[in-house]
Amino acid sequence: MRTAIYPGTFDPITYGHIDIIIRALSLFDKLIITIAENSSKEPLFELEERIELISEATTDLKNLEVDHTGGLIVNYAKKKEAVALVRGLRFVSDFELEFQMAWMNRHLDDSIATIFLMPHRRYAHLSSSVIRDIAELGGDIDVFVPPCVSNRLKEKFAK
Ligand code: COA
Repeated sequence: MRTAIYPGTFDPITYGHIDIIIRALSLFDKLIITIAENSSKEPLFELEERIELISEATTDLKNLEVDHTGGLIVNYAKKKEAVALVRGLRFVSDFELEFQMAWMNRHLDDSIATIFLMPHRRYAHLSSSVIRDIAELGGDIDVFVPPCVSNRLKEKFAK
């Protein structure tokens, strides 16, 4: 049984993330989507809301688990007996930070590989912060996020 972890902030999950999830599920027996802490980010959505939205948005997918961790991602991966971390690469500018994280994670635990997957071209320019910005300004985000996310963003910014 080969398990992989897809870590991230998911603030909120988008179709770009789901595209990566589907690609990863074709490579591994099980995928755990793990909300992990990025100390430089202050998420709009609470942890529980992000878990709820990911679960709802991926309800039709099998061999998937949604979880969170507050510690080092490699320690978490080891505990879950995972063999790899999955990360999405959208453009060359992603590469620098991703490369640094992958090297550091390899330094911390060489037994966990980092696998980079590219989303479909239609999602290459997507990011959660762009989605939050457009939603806050009343723009249409429905082609980029599942209905549960779109509705929750509208509710949030209507307040
Ligand atoms: N579709 C849409 N957006 C995508 C995407 C895709 N396929 N792939 C990446 N992104 C976007 C995200 O939406 C996010 O956008 P935003 O910054 O505008 O919100 C951005 O790319 C990067 O986000 P994410 O993939 O969530 O990464 P992150 O940098 O927030 O998360 C962690 C990094 C949480 C995985 C990392 O800090 C971590 O592992 N933390 C745990 C602690 C640890 O072990 N630290 C040491 C690591 S070396």
